[in-house]
Amino acid sequence: MSGHGDPVPMMARKGGALTGEAHVPGDKSISHRSLILGAMAVGETRITGLLEGQDVLDTAKAMRAFGAEVTRDDDGTWHVHGVGTGGFAEPEDVIDCGNSGTGVRLIMGAMATTPITVTFTGDASLRSRPMARVTDPLALFGCRSVGRAGGRLPMTLVGAAEPLPVRYTVPVPSAQVKSAVLLAGLNAPGQTVVIEAEATRDHTERMLAGFGAEITTEVTDEGRVITLTGQPELVPQTITVPRDPSSAAFPVCAALITEGSDVLVPNIGLNPTRAGLFETLIEMGADLTYENPREEGGEPVADLRARYSPDMKGVEVPPARAASMIDEYPILSVVAANAEGPTVMRGVKELRVKESDRIAAMADGLRACGVEVEDGPDWWIVHGRGMGGVKGGATCATHLDHRIAMSFLCLGLSTQEPVGVDDGGPIATSFPIFEGLMRDLGAEIERG
Ligand code: S3P
Repeated sequence: MSGHGDPVPMMARKGGALTGEAHVPGDKSISHRSLILGAMAVGETRITGLLEGQDVLDTAKAMRAFGAEVTRDDDGTWHVHGVGTGGFAEPEDVIDCGNSGTGVRLIMGAMATTPITVTFTGDASLRSRPMARVTDPLALFGCRSVGRAGGRLPMTLVGAAEPLPVRYTVPVPSAQVKSAVLLAGLNAPGQTVVIEAEATRDHTERMLAGFGAEITTEVTDEGRVITLTGQPELVPQTITVPRDPSSAAFPVCAALITEGSDVLVPNIGLNPTRAGLFETLIEMGADLTYENPREEGGEPVADLRARYSPDMKGVEVPPARAASMIDEYPILSVVAANAEGPTVMRGVKELRVKESDRIAAMADGLRACGVEVEDGPDWWIVHGRGMGGVKGGATCATHLDHRIAMSFLCLGLSTQEPVGVDDGGPIATSFPIFEGLMRDLGAEIERG
């Protein structure tokens, strides 16, 4: 969906305690990859627990356009009949990835070494985001591209007819770029090598190994050196998608800042490349525990229990942890506003090129709610006002960004006056059941 319906204003206010269980949806990163790798395998991949948010539905639609058969049973099981590595057909129409940077960048990688021509677009947020970070390395395989000024969508890619394997050092910490290169490497002969200085989420590597590709990761002085042998026959899989830690972050943080709360968030994927927020919250003094830790489908999983934590303190978040919590800084800033003292977040310039400029969006809204925020190109500091010390009383702009919308609604559960958002519509991209789930816990969140 490249458009976006009418804005959905929403509002949250302080009410009673949040209690009960929060069953958050499937992991967005793993959901996209399940569909794309399923489409590149030969035969039928079955997926349960797939996130049925708009971002992932757009990827499912794209995989159909490339020739894969993608269906859903009434019980929520998805089936992907893949066309094999290099088997993508040329789509008849533009591929519209809606709001999803992960969708568009991974799909660009997946088609870049097949000789087809594909035009990509997305919504206003996605059309403003940088794509050269992906098309530059894809050009090394022999994939050509032309787009709008600044490497923006809409953009047309012409996949390489005779791809070359690539050795590429990712210049920014980005799992999307790393994954695009690896997916392109699938249909190139020989070995494609991706080097990342900072570890980013490793779902692509884990899942490629699961689908039968030969892939190794070595930790060296340069960073993580990932070597993929091209042109494998990917073997279809049965995948259970763990629940998304980035979605769990919202009920967890809401419970920490809402008096009397005790919330259990079961079955959360706790891959160490994703769990930085929870580590940070514990350092701040959050009453947050991992119950029943176990392994499921190659990913570490636990149940998270979060209880109201009135005495949290601001911390300095180590920049080395940024990649493992990159999507969680907006909600961390909401907790930080309710902690004592400053929370310092450095090494986070990637936040400026997400679905919105997340530092600017959060800083503006927090300031409007009475919180002092300092910010620079790759850092920001939130000066906490102590639990319940935030005034609120503002309507915050969400800039087509689901995580900004959910963060301000969680803030409103703790503030002296209600907090509104101008548009909660984008929440459906990643967490379509957010509103109902939060209300079931006891949150006072309403439309209008
Ligand atoms: C993702 C990678 C991250 C993250 C995004 C999902 C992925 O983006 O912000 O929500 O699934 O690979 P970057 O690669 O831009 O850091």
